[in-house]
Amino acid sequence: MKRLIHILALVGGIAFLAGCDEKEADLPQPEQAVMQDGVYEGLGEGRSGMIKVAVEVKEHIITAIRILSQSESKFAQPAEQQIIEAVLEKQTTEGVDAVSGATLTSNGMLAAIGMAIDASKGVEREEAAYTDTSCDIVVVGAGGAGLAAAVQASSMGAHVIVLEKQGIIGGNTNYSTGGLNAAETSVQKKLGITDSRQSHFDDTMSGGHYLNDPSLVTTLVNKAAAVVDWLISLGADMGDVGKMAGSSQSRTHRPSGGAAIGPHLMSVLSRAVQAENISIRTRNTVTALTEKDGKVTGVKVNTSKGTYSIQAKAVIIATGGFGANLSMVEQYRPELKGFGTSNHHGATGDAFEWVEALQVPLVHMDQIQVHPTGETGSHLLITEAVRGNGAILVNSEGVRFADEMWTRDRLSDAILEQTGKSAYIIFDQSVRESLSAIENYAQQGLLTSAGTVSELAQALNLPVPAFVATMEAYRMYQVAGEDPDFGRKAEEMPRPLNQAPYYAIHVEPVIHHTMGGIKINSNAEVLNEAGEAVPGLYAAGEVTGGVHGGNRLGGNAVADIMVFGQIAGTSAARFASANF
Ligand code: FUM
Repeated sequence: MKRLIHILALVGGIAFLAGCDEKEADLPQPEQAVMQDGVYEGLGEGRSGMIKVAVEVKEHIITAIRILSQSESKFAQPAEQQIIEAVLEKQTTEGVDAVSGATLTSNGMLAAIGMAIDASKGVEREEAAYTDTSCDIVVVGAGGAGLAAAVQASSMGAHVIVLEKQGIIGGNTNYSTGGLNAAETSVQKKLGITDSRQSHFDDTMSGGHYLNDPSLVTTLVNKAAAVVDWLISLGADMGDVGKMAGSSQSRTHRPSGGAAIGPHLMSVLSRAVQAENISIRTRNTVTALTEKDGKVTGVKVNTSKGTYSIQAKAVIIATGGFGANLSMVEQYRPELKGFGTSNHHGATGDAFEWVEALQVPLVHMDQIQVHPTGETGSHLLITEAVRGNGAILVNSEGVRFADEMWTRDRLSDAILEQTGKSAYIIFDQSVRESLSAIENYAQQGLLTSAGTVSELAQALNLPVPAFVATMEAYRMYQVAGEDPDFGRKAEEMPRPLNQAPYYAIHVEPVIHHTMGGIKINSNAEVLNEAGEAVPGLYAAGEVTGGVHGGNRLGGNAVADIMVFGQIAGTSAARFASANF
């Protein structure tokens, strides 16, 4: 995965895999050329924007690498230094792994340094100049939903081109950590977990305050188990199943050991894309849909080399939500002005404009989810799975103020009522060992740790007696299986939090998921104002509205993008084969 993203970022707009109508440009082989002395600049896309570096070469050896500009958070700086040191040692970006927990920053650094090294060898990585072309299906967006759709449609024989406006693939899926919700799965059966689709349906509707479209939720819960098997058949590890807030049962599937789900699935889908020989064109920005007599006929595309069109029998919109478009967020929810966001910077909701001319309604646009636990400095999401595996929250007075497994909207509101509108997520070594995703936070320097509870209180500047009393009381509640203060359920207090060392992360609510968007039906067909499917147009994932209603449950986004991504691929492939 790391290597693949690096390649994608490095080659920018060059199609990295041959499609039917194109083949990868005959690139010079940079590894074979010699670095010439001088200072060379390179650009790569990091987590928060472009990273620009200067690479100095003396006597054909890289002697220094400097960062000229960047927008990464201060927490990414150790990772950047590690990358620089590794490249200086190896004298190449080849074989340098991304730093765990800072994958996007690392890949941006590697791409930038790689570009500069290429320049020192006289190799220019030109973006491809595309011309008008045609295919069966255009997928717009190379995140989880887009790649699931592309792989599915291609496996049914369609010629697919994927367009991605960013320099790297993955979108918000790159950040997704908690897991994928599915009930009655083969994995749950193996682990002896009793669950039902009805329970998944009920939890999703109740979590969404019954604003959800029940037919979309029915599809989600009925198809999720099969999608887990599909992903396993593509090579995914879904061996760990945990419990997230608002779920009655343990149904959140993630890699064994509790690793982050999103990067893993992107790796799995990238391999499938490669096996299917699907072309992904990065830095290719769709500006409009084309249509004839109400039927979608393709897209217009903008690149640094000019514009071109793709004629297609079907278009799948999988561009994600608008959680990084803070003015759009504010337009729909003025009270969210000033909130940070956990979203990647490309989540700007561009697709909503494209469908206007087709009289496609947008639904639930004001339903914007605030996630309770974004790290206060970086806004990096601290996965709900940390609480699911036992962590508690305390305020700056050192006391609990909520059932930590309340749904996101309720818990966010509770945090916003505390001093400083923030809280500390508190856990012990046993929770850390239960969830390897926590190692990413450790590597980014987000953990405050201490050998005893009172030392942790001192390190956080919390009143020691109050915090010690909070921890003791929670331990007793956990052992008794009853939380008289906030009613946290026994099965949602899996650990007594008594294994040193102890850890804390300072958190605050951040904009996380935009639940509104393009109206679709259960076939992922885009619907117009009259409720009719727009011929040739499909959508999947966060760009759509209706699945999650007024509040999305943790683990349901990955289920959504995979289930409806796959459905969109199937529906579009069927439509394309019936319309040639
Ligand atoms: O907290 C989380 O891991 C988020 C998961 C999700 O939004 O589904």
